[in-house]
Amino acid sequence: MNEFYQQDIISIKDYTKEKLEKIFTFTDKIMNLDPISRREICKGKTLGYLFYEPSTRTRLSFDSAMASVGGSSLGISNIESSSTQKGESLADTVKIMSIYSDALILRHTLDGSSRFAAEISDKPVINAGSGTEEHPTQAIQDLFTIKKEKKKIDGLKIGIVGDLKYGRTVYSLLHGLGNYDVDVRLISPESLKIRTDSVYEIKKKLDFTEATNVEDHIDELDVLYVTRIQKERFPDEEEYLKVKGSYVVGLDLLKQMKSDSIILHPLPRIDEISTDVDNTPNAKYFEQAEYGKHTRAALLGLTLNENGF
Ligand code: NCD
Repeated sequence: MNEFYQQDIISIKDYTKEKLEKIFTFTDKIMNLDPISRREICKGKTLGYLFYEPSTRTRLSFDSAMASVGGSSLGISNIESSSTQKGESLADTVKIMSIYSDALILRHTLDGSSRFAAEISDKPVINAGSGTEEHPTQAIQDLFTIKKEKKKIDGLKIGIVGDLKYGRTVYSLLHGLGNYDVDVRLISPESLKIRTDSVYEIKKKLDFTEATNVEDHIDELDVLYVTRIQKERFPDEEEYLKVKGSYVVGLDLLKQMKSDSIILHPLPRIDEISTDVDNTPNAKYFEQAEYGKHTRAALLGLTLNENGF
């Protein structure tokens, strides 16, 4: 039996380098499979999704990944139209979803929501974003993208810029990168530095420095990972307005970068990368979104097919 079979995917902290590399190998395998064999992997299985926050890529890539491995998906993408509106609890909603599906993906505003759901569900739960805490499948997709585009992860200089305080993709990515030998520069306005409780934890695994000026580091980076300022998570709009637009990656900044450096973004992009960067060979965020479909297909295959594939 494969070790991922019927396992929850709650936190990237549960993934060693060996486990991550196994997922990447399966992803490569799945990308090279012919469509007919690919559709055998999760044939007859159903994925249920519950999204308490907006999503485009995560939900659609899971949907499309599930279809590509022969399964189907059903769920609630707009919680306003569900019985939550009538007062139904998360626990009951999860219980019902686990009756109708073979695995469940959950995006919720609260930290700890996926762990809570996993305690209730007798089917595997996949965290598709829990508050400001984690987004493990995004980190798997991000690491896979780096590996595909740079041919390695070890030895790279990686800059992560933007909202490091509220961006959950950042936390999952940092914990994921902790498995590799990388030099990380965390670049943000003073008020959006990574949370101090996490600094302590991440410092044990990862070599990183903090900075406020992207220009001081830009020429050294192999990977620039840009994040959106998470407007909806600011307790006070005034605070958001102070940092809004602090970083914009444009062609002028790109000129200072190594010619073979890559720019990533979990998306959605608001104004932090100007659209004229999109057509440069360095922009890899749309490829990253595509890799998201394949890494999720691999994760579904491993979770739902006893033999892997
Ligand atoms: C991210 C998220 O939801 O955390 N989106 C995504 O899943 N690609 C990033 C964001 O919303 O900024």
